[in-house]
Amino acid sequence: MITINPSLKSRIHSIDFNNLPFGQVFSDNMLVCSYKDGKWGSTEIKEYGNISISPAAQVLHYGQAVFEGMKAFKDSDENILFFRRDENFKRLNQSAKRMAIPEISKETFFNGLDQLLKLDEKWCKSENGFSIYIRPFLFASQSCIKASSSEEYTFMIILSPTKEYYTDPINLVIEQEYSRAASGGVGFAKAAGNYGASFFPTNLAKKKGFTQVIWTDSNTHEYIEESGTMNIWFVIDNILVTPALSDSILGGITRDSIIKIAKDLGYQVQEREVSVNEILEAHKSGMLDESFGTGTAVSVLPISSITYKDIKINFQNSNLISSKLKDKLLSIQKGLLKDNYGWIDCLNY
Ligand code: COI
Repeated sequence: MITINPSLKSRIHSIDFNNLPFGQVFSDNMLVCSYKDGKWGSTEIKEYGNISISPAAQVLHYGQAVFEGMKAFKDSDENILFFRRDENFKRLNQSAKRMAIPEISKETFFNGLDQLLKLDEKWCKSENGFSIYIRPFLFASQSCIKASSSEEYTFMIILSPTKEYYTDPINLVIEQEYSRAASGGVGFAKAAGNYGASFFPTNLAKKKGFTQVIWTDSNTHEYIEESGTMNIWFVIDNILVTPALSDSILGGITRDSIIKIAKDLGYQVQEREVSVNEILEAHKSGMLDESFGTGTAVSVLPISSITYKDIKINFQNSNLISSKLKDKLLSIQKGLLKDNYGWIDCLNY
């Protein structure tokens, strides 16, 4: 059951949609649902605004929190098109399970999203380049600083109108000291702490002029895992190669979509171990054609350069396979191409 107490006055007219820094502008309404006494309570959609939590809320002390990143688009008939939201639902609950957080029901997630998007559909623009970034998240809200899993949780969804995530060229450096995730840990989950822990090494790289780091395995730093908040890809001798999923790599929904699109476009795709050495050798022999990242926020993002110690690999920026893949993905997401994959569901009024 959802109670709807919408915002009475929209803020949309005060927003400059031509200047939308990622993740700083939020729509008029948000969804909130609380878990107590062993069950999720009723859901409320209400005006977007600050929430009040106890200074002893467990999330503030132990980081028991997970989130999702998903997008909806608007087609030229002003229909809202959700992209693979069933996959985000599945992944949210997988992440929740790993972090000992109670799972969210389908009804709360899908019906909640429908009602929220119906209220705030104007925040999703149909012009090219726009989408609405949907951020569902779950956190431990019990007032208790005992180091054990919480008995109370909060589930929320907020919406952020979005254009590009990055506007400048992407220069990456291969990380040799720090790790994003370790075997047996929570790297496969969208756990808040994975991101928090990445900021210090990322800031060190930024100080040296890089955009993000390329994460390598925590044991040897010889194998490539992800980059920043993206899955990473290489085009080696016209074959698309991306690290195989493991418990230290997030199973990106964009990654999975690009695997399917690339195969259908006739490219060979390999999901396997990718060593730093292989990338350096492929570069030396002239076989390394491209590198790109995939993720909900970035979509498909060509990489300008990769640095390892004193070696810098520069990539060309024309006639890219990644541009073809991105165009096809976006055309499906925007309803311009027939969706043969069953990835789109349209918001029904
Ligand atoms: C996404 O692509 O949705 C991400 O997870 C990136 C986000 C941390 C900004």
